[in-house]
This record gives sequence, structure tokens and C-alpha cells, in this order.
Amino acid sequence: MSAQILPSVGSFGVRIAGTGSAVPSQVLSNADLARMVETDDDWIFQRTGIRERRISNPDTEGTYTLSRDALGRAIEAAKIDPNTIDLVICGTCTMEMSCPSTACRISAAVGAKSAAAFDLVAACCGYVYTLNVADALIRSGSYKTIAIVGCDAMSSIIDYTDRGTSILFGDAAGAAILTRDTDRTKGCLYQHMGADGSDWGSLYIPRRQRDIPPQDAENRNQLGKLRMEGREVFKFAVNKFREVIEDAMAKTSLGVNDIGQVICHQSNVRIIDAARERIGFDREQVYVNIDRFGNSSAGSVGLCFDQLWKAGKVPCEKPVVFVAFGGGLTWASSVWQL
Ligand code: COA
Repeated sequence: MSAQILPSVGSFGVRIAGTGSAVPSQVLSNADLARMVETDDDWIFQRTGIRERRISNPDTEGTYTLSRDALGRAIEAAKIDPNTIDLVICGTCTMEMSCPSTACRISAAVGAKSAAAFDLVAACCGYVYTLNVADALIRSGSYKTIAIVGCDAMSSIIDYTDRGTSILFGDAAGAAILTRDTDRTKGCLYQHMGADGSDWGSLYIPRRQRDIPPQDAENRNQLGKLRMEGREVFKFAVNKFREVIEDAMAKTSLGVNDIGQVICHQSNVRIIDAARERIGFDREQVYVNIDRFGNSSAGSVGLCFDQLWKAGKVPCEKPVVFVAFGGGLTWASSVWQL
């Protein structure tokens, strides 16, 4: 079927001027984990597609340093003066401090002196939510240039005695500079964001004892560390992932062959493969780097996008679909003509 691109909403188009990413240098392999908990490389790879992930040095690295570095690289790639950035949005659920926001600190660090700044919490949907919010604000004419960052230092909230969560997660940041364009056909063609708070207890980070729901009382993970009902989240994710992509395709009248690239949250390769096979995408249409970086929550989509962009593999002639789901529970899609 030929692509029927929806007419852009608003008076302006939106262009991605540059991207950047950052990961810690320390690699935590499946073999390393097998020395920490009862697991092995085969089990982890078969069930998740992960071989290794990056983790921060807790003394020197974390959400602030990773998002600062990713943003700095995106500014460099976009070749812009940081003073021209009007707004910085950082999607994260692992901010070191809730006040000040990560966005405020990284704006100062990169010299974005005229920018407003805030953090946005949507767990693994952090990058796609910020992308959608930024596109809408630029299209409306209120802002000209917005820097977005998706970043999570998951190692700071993982209990490394829990084999159910420690095998999945890693740390990463991805950033992009979005700017107004006179071509109204450029930018987001369709976006969707959703949430269902009724099932929050399947993936959460309790601060206090009273945050813990009765059904999770037996969980021995420390306070401040991630708790997850892996099987429940798997069931939700496998269905939602496919639904969200199919909804985006239906609303834009795009068929499988009309889409250049699907850039998706790296949760578990079985979840990605199930949706890819069911919808009928070729392997090359759906980028996967989970084998090397694990699930980096809000960092994953931006990291994938930056790697594809730098490798010259982001198509300009065909639309790109960004998609994510995660804690909250939340989900989001964003179809772009780059
Ligand atoms: N190593 C070895 N064995 C493990 C293990 C590990 N790391 N974790 C669990 N097991 C064992 C279980 O104890 C269980 O043993 P049993 O059959 O004797 O009871 C068995 O393996 C199967 O456990 P189960 O939890 O059903 O495994 P699974 O196939 O669901 O895989 C996850 C577990 C966490 C990998 C999977 O549920 C998952 O990926 N869920 C989605 C998580 C996700 O995407 N979260 C982020 C959302 S953004």
C-alpha cells in the first residue's frame, strides 16, 4: 500500500538537527552476573537476547553525567550555539535529585543559558514522551529549538542480589536537538501517548515501606531498588508493543514496506521479535542493540537513534517509527518524517 502521510498539524515543521549518546565504559557481562547471582549466560541470552550491559561507576558517573555528555554531543552534531536552545527536557526516572531537575543541571553544564528546563518521568517511555512533547511545542510556535534527553542509570536502582531484574538493565543516555523548520511536512506525523496506572505495582521503585503493595510484601529487594513482576510485564509488553505499532501504522495509513525503520525500546529481544514477526517487518527494519546494552529504560530509544544516525542508517525518504512502553504502566509512539 502506498503511504498516505497525514498533513502536519500547526504552522511549522520540525527538524532533527543532531543527535548524541553516552554510555559508561564499564561492561557488566552475563559471566560477571553469574558470579553474583544464580544464573548463567545461556539462560540470560535465551530469555532476553542480552550478552552484556554498561553500568556506571557510582562514584563518578550517573544520570547527570550521562545526560550531560549525550546532550553535549548532540549540540556538537547539530552545530548550534547552546544559547539558542529554548528548552531542555530530560526524560528520566533515575534522577540523582528531584530538586534541582537533571535538565536544569545539564542546561547549565552545556551553556544553554536561555533555556527553560524540566524533567519528565515516564520510565522507559521517557525519550518518546519527550520527543512528542517537544514536537508539539515547536509546531505550536511557542518554542524554536528544544533539546531532548532520555537517560537512566538503572544500575543505581538495581538490587544486584535479585536475578529477576539485575540481568536486564543497563545505563545509557540519548539526546537530540529539535528545531523549527519551514517545511511543514517534516517532523512528527502522528503521536500517541498512553498510561494505565492501575497496574503500577508490576514495575516500581518504592521509597518507603508504605509504598509497597500487600501483594509484593514478600519481595526482599531493598527500598529504593526496582521491583518487577517479570511475567506480568512480559505479557503486557508483548501485546502493547504490537498494538502501539499497529495503531501508528493504521492512523498514518502506512504499510510495512512504507516504513524505513522502527526504533524501539530495548526491553527483551523476545518481545521485539514477537511484534516484528507478527506485523511482518524485515529484521533490518527493526534495530536491535540489546545484546550489547541491555534495557537502559529511557536511554534506550535515544541510544538506538544516535547509533543509527551516526551509521547513516536513518532513512529520510521513508518514515521512522519510535515506540516504547514501560513502568507506570506507560506506552508511546511517534511517527516521523525526517
Ligand atoms: N537465571 C536463571 N534462572 C532464572 C532467572 C535467571 N536470571 N530468573 C528466573 N529464573 C528461573 C525462575 O526461577 C523460574 O524457575 P522455575 O521454573 O523453577 O520457577 C524460571 O527461570 C522461569 O522464570 P520466569 O520468570 O517465568 O522467566 P521468564 O521467561 O519470564 O523470563 C524475564 C524472566 C524477567 C527475563 C522476563 O519475564 C521478562 O523479560 N519480562 C519483561 C521484563 C521487561 O521487559 N521489563 C522492562 C519493561 S520496560
